[in-house]
Amino acid sequence: MDKLIIKGRNKLYGKVSIGGAKNAALPAMAAAILTSGDVRLSKVPHLADVTTMVALFENMGISTTGYGGTTTDATSGRSVTINTSRMNTYEAPYKLVKTMRASILVLGPLVARYGRARVSLPGGCAIGSRPVDLHIKALASLGADVSIEHGYINVTAKRLTGAKIVFDTTTVTGTENIMMAATLARGTTIIENAAKEPEISSLAEQLVNMGARINGAGTDLIEIQGVDQLHGCSMDIIPDRIEAGTYLIAAAAAGGEVEVTGCNPRHLDALLFKLNEAGIEYSETADSVMVRRNRDTWLKSANIKTQPYPNFPTDLQAQFMVLLTQGDDTGIITETIFENRLMHVAELRRMGADITVENNVAIVRGKTRLMGAPIMATDLRASASLVIAGLIADNVTEISRIYHLDRGYEGMEEKLSKIGAQIERVKA
Ligand code: EPZ
Repeated sequence: MDKLIIKGRNKLYGKVSIGGAKNAALPAMAAAILTSGDVRLSKVPHLADVTTMVALFENMGISTTGYGGTTTDATSGRSVTINTSRMNTYEAPYKLVKTMRASILVLGPLVARYGRARVSLPGGCAIGSRPVDLHIKALASLGADVSIEHGYINVTAKRLTGAKIVFDTTTVTGTENIMMAATLARGTTIIENAAKEPEISSLAEQLVNMGARINGAGTDLIEIQGVDQLHGCSMDIIPDRIEAGTYLIAAAAAGGEVEVTGCNPRHLDALLFKLNEAGIEYSETADSVMVRRNRDTWLKSANIKTQPYPNFPTDLQAQFMVLLTQGDDTGIITETIFENRLMHVAELRRMGADITVENNVAIVRGKTRLMGAPIMATDLRASASLVIAGLIADNVTEISRIYHLDRGYEGMEEKLSKIGAQIERVKA
């Protein structure tokens, strides 16, 4: 397994360009199941999770070209054209779903288009149990017959019927699954307590481009009027706000001056507010954010509480924790979304961080000089936080199990090297 070797304490100067959002590309691909027409997605990131979705589609007989599909290898293009005309199964098998839980996003489209689906339950995940009970209950409310057998979700429905869905918990992929399913249901569906992430709004825009009738995406109340069929479309994937936020935090921690380009600053307001509170200077244009910091002074400490969009995203919590070790006092992090998303604390402690965890609260003491050490990535965003820690630590940090990182960050070591980091990937 590959490792990353980082020699810390370099300031960072230059530009980092942001790719398409993983969490927008995955639902955008699933939406192609709703039509027999071509769905052409551009600005698609080259990431392990997208490659897994491509593999799932090819396993189902869905053609994907331009992204390591049947016609080209995985290094070509930044676009993928998806067509379901030769789809030959309604099943998403465990061997693929267990490696990428967002595979659950094919459930709603399969039932809506074909009246049936057999999708493996995703199973556990490092950051939490992450059940899909809300997806299942909502599909049943739309008139589907659902049974769970041998670890699979079996769903049938003559035709889904619009209904009022009220999610107990705000769920991003749950909202996406039901919004997609409702586009072909008979009648109108109302989703209350809907997730408001930018990825929901971009999926709704794509579905409308395909002929769906949707109002309210981006608010907590979405109305979908079912239609009989959808057609193909072309769509750009929106910039990855979590990738952008990760590099902004890295620049704030390491010091220097870095411009993150090709992003949407409006998707980063909660982070920018906290960076400002921590004493970080930043400026922005319509599609970039510049961070500058004289690393020789401690930051001001800040407290964060992860909550659904537009509040502070759980996907930037681990990264921000590293920044708080450089504060002038104690910072408190409350993780409210996932029950086990503080595993990076143990690894940061090995680098000298002084962090105490009580249930879902981490108390991060500042004024800490981190020391390089051999450490291990445990999940996608934790691995990004360990890279940031390596960038600011004395001496050398060696990070193993970086396959976690490759799920959500394209070419991180190249992007960081270009702005002055001493980082290399060592093939194991
Ligand atoms: C999406 O996951 C993202 N993944 C996650 O990003 C992100 O952390 C998460 O939303 C929260 O913002 C994709 O979009 C592919 P949820 P999702 O359903 O949809 C509970 C990353 O690093 N819940 O919004 O799976 C759940 O356990 C990944 O890019 C139920 O109880 O998250 C959690 O506590 C990690 N039952 C809360 O809701 C359900 O049926 C929010 O989860 C569904 C969810």
